[in-house]
Amino acid sequence: MKTILLSPLQLRGLELKNRIVVSPMCQYSAEDGFANDWHFVHYGSRAVGGAGLIIAEATAVSPEGRISPYDLGMWKNEHVEKWKQINHFIHQQGSLSGIQLAHAGRKASTGCLWREGDVYLFPDKGGWQPLAPSSIPFESGAPVPLEMDVELIEWVVEEFRKSAQRSNEAGFDVVEIHAAHGYLLHQFLSPITNKRTDKYGGSFDNRVRFLLEVVDAVRQVWPVSKPLFVRISATDWAEGGWDEAQSVKLAMLLKNRGVDLMDISSGGLLPDAKVQIGYGYQVPFAARIRQEADMKTGAVGLITKAEQAETILTNGLADIILVAREFLRDPYFPLHAASQLKDEIAWPVQYERAKPH
Ligand code: FNR
Repeated sequence: MKTILLSPLQLRGLELKNRIVVSPMCQYSAEDGFANDWHFVHYGSRAVGGAGLIIAEATAVSPEGRISPYDLGMWKNEHVEKWKQINHFIHQQGSLSGIQLAHAGRKASTGCLWREGDVYLFPDKGGWQPLAPSSIPFESGAPVPLEMDVELIEWVVEEFRKSAQRSNEAGFDVVEIHAAHGYLLHQFLSPITNKRTDKYGGSFDNRVRFLLEVVDAVRQVWPVSKPLFVRISATDWAEGGWDEAQSVKLAMLLKNRGVDLMDISSGGLLPDAKVQIGYGYQVPFAARIRQEADMKTGAVGLITKAEQAETILTNGLADIILVAREFLRDPYFPLHAASQLKDEIAWPVQYERAKPH
């Protein structure tokens, strides 16, 4: 049976060989922002496993934009080299490679679960003061962020631009701007975390301004032939916060600014949000934005089965399926999905003899 899940998707000058995408997942395994052999094997394995596109984890555009000291970075030219090798290998397997460019904002400067534990790192322990639209900490006990002035906002826009330029040199096919999960760009979008009274706060137009400036800066240097994605949280799951209606409005703006697809997640802004989790729980957000804004969308969140993924696509609820934790359990998810759906997929020639018939 020919499925939509395993059929190609054309985005600008590039073709995803199928619609299964590795969702960005922090590995907390970098030093000074550099990718290393962990990243080579981790991302390389998922290319061997047949993913159409692999989006590398949140990669900081500046050192203070890291969630932890172990995040990947793209803030200096030296970061490019290792990615050339990784991307070359991914391309050899017929997969495309994406990078998620990120700034953690007030959620920066935390420890790593298996090193320092789930703690905030203050400057005396190797941490730094985070940046934010307003000087409101994430929760009690979290560092108080520095409220960014306009100069600093313009500086961060430049950091996104330069990181996108380096990502191109590194051979990435897709840039995804991380505007979800309560990180810096999301903090500007939401009225809960953005209490500014200047042109970056208050009205919807003002709150989206920073993201639009980042998108414009990235699009200027990101080749016309290469797709640009934006990940958002479609809702804060909180009264008075960012919501679905604003997400639709944002999608309409992004469509006219060269964004090709929105990757639709939710939450992350507040520690105590009441999230209604279940299989495919974020799919309705992707469906609504796709329909009302006529924007291509990616569905993510507890999509773990091939049939479930195929149903989302056949019902026209999204254009691609992003899979995170299932890809950690099974790097060969696309190869297995093909046999479960009785569709064809090319196995790596080295593994041909193990292919189920
Ligand atoms: C994540 N997630 C995530 N999201 C993101 O936008 N950037 C990131 O760097 C990370 N990092 C990350 C690390 C790990 C270990 C996990 C498990 C998750 C969220 C992820 O991309 C995805 O949106 C959620 O995990 C929901 O999808 P699944 O896991 O239900 O398929």
